[in-house]
Parts: sequence; structure tokens; C-alpha cells
Amino acid sequence: MTILDGKKISNQIKDEIAEEVKKIIDDGEKVPHLAAVIVGNDGASLTYVGSKVRACERVGFESTMVRMSNTTSEVELLDKIEELNEDDNIDGFIVQLPLPPQINTQKVLLAVDPDKDVDGFHPMNFGKMALDMSTFIPATPFGILELIERYGVETQGKHTVVIGRSHIVGRPMSILMGRKAFPGNSTVTVTHSRTKNIEEITRQADIIISALGVPNFLKADMVKDDVVIIDVGITRVPDETRERGYRITGDVDFENVSKKASFITPVPGGVGPMTIAMLLKNTLLARERHLRQA
Ligand code: GUN
Repeated sequence: MTILDGKKISNQIKDEIAEEVKKIIDDGEKVPHLAAVIVGNDGASLTYVGSKVRACERVGFESTMVRMSNTTSEVELLDKIEELNEDDNIDGFIVQLPLPPQINTQKVLLAVDPDKDVDGFHPMNFGKMALDMSTFIPATPFGILELIERYGVETQGKHTVVIGRSHIVGRPMSILMGRKAFPGNSTVTVTHSRTKNIEEITRQADIIISALGVPNFLKADMVKDDVVIIDVGITRVPDETRERGYRITGDVDFENVSKKASFITPVPGGVGPMTIAMLLKNTLLARERHLRQA
């Protein structure tokens, strides 16, 4: 069994990006600049955005965190997005999800300039991805592809079962794994909360990508020998033995499933750090797009 070590690979990617930034500075050019908008005080969202900003500092990017109150109106957020779209100093930005209920998420995602949409959530970018055109691939799916590629996990002709159909992970992942490419060329089945007898499907899987958000959902008797496991779950479970009062738990019963798996991602230290590294990679890409337009 091989651990798909997202922490290690994400550090390699960040080192590669830091090298690129050095070259940019040596050439006397402007370093990439990522902005992140966060609306409200959700603890998990603040932690994620904080990690994104710290990662920018580590590779030498500029970063801006835009904090807006929980009572921000849709118009106020749309105005801020327009400001970021127009700001020539910013190469790419994200709006952290979820948003408070008074704000229509679809309207917000449509307002982001597709050339600055480093999350790849704008319908134009999502459509391009589905049509194999060059674009921003959402960071978590992009990170999973990169892990698969760097560990040389075979995907061609394999049966990949995706658990979850979110717009951020499950849906794009199911499209990407079926692409005529590596990683890809898989036969893909998408399952979700309404799927009946899910264990009958997961037992047929060569590769399982679980993005359900139910701690320890996937048990050893639901998988076959030598399965490849990608665990995207990051649920906070109360734990009084920890100083912060919780621990992060994946969708997979790691202790028992890892005994049957050929490759498996840990939680934490698997997909999570890869997401951040690929957001930085997309920001580098956004800078190149930006330069081409100048
Ligand atoms: N919320 C959970 N994951 C993500 C992500 O990748 N991007 C944004 N913007 N919000 C998220």
C-alpha cells in the first residue's frame, strides 16, 4: 500500500512555483497577485482562506484578503467583484463558498471575470473544461489529477466511482476522469446521497473518489482488494483531546480500508494541501493570461 502524500507533493509544487516567482522577479516583472473574498465568519472558511493567503506568502506571491460582514448584501458583493475584475494589479481571485443565504451564489460566480476565475467555477470555464479546452480546472479536482499523475496511478480502462455530485468536486471530477487523457480514460460512475445499494457499486470500483462529507462512510467491506482511494472528506468532528476541540475526519475508515488499498490519501495531508497548491498554479496561469491581454 502506498500513501498518496499530498503534503509532500504540494510542497514540491510550491517549491516549483517559488522558482518561477524568482525568475519573474529576476526579469523585473510583477509577481502574481491572488485575492480571496470571504463573506461572514464561518470558522472552516476562515481557516481555508488563511491557508491560501499563507501559501501565497510562502511562494512569493502578493495576496489580498477581502473580509466582508455576514450581513453583506448581494449588490455589495457584486460591486466588490466588479472592483476586483477591474483592478489591474490583481491577476486572479476567488470568492470563498458557501455564501450567506441572502446572496445568490450563481449570480456571484457569473460576475467573476472568467480570465481571473482561478477557482474555475464560472460556467464559461466549467464548460471549457467539459469540452477539453484549455482553462482553469477547479483546484481540488486539479490537485487530485496531479496526485494521480505524480504517483503514476493507472486510470485508463479502470472503473472510477465518484461519491458526491457537488459542483466543486464530484461533478468536475467525474468529467475529468472520463476524459480522453491521462489521468482519465476511466469508465466513470457517479453516485450520491440518493444512490441505492451504493456498496454494490463501490465494490466494483478500481478507483474511488469520495467527496460526501460523511465521516468514516466508506468501510473495508465496501471495497475490493487493491482499490485506489481518494478521500476528499474534511469534516470537523468534536474531539476534546485536541486543543482546538475538533479533529478533521475523512469519508473513509482509513485504518481498515488502507489494509485493502493499493494507494490511499490520508486525511489530513492528502487532497487538502493539494487544493491550495493548485490554486497557486492557477494564479500563475492567470498572470500569464493577463500578460497576453496587456
Ligand atoms: N469552499 C470549499 N472549497 C472551495 C474552493 O475550492 N473554492 C472556494 N472558493 N470555496 C470553497
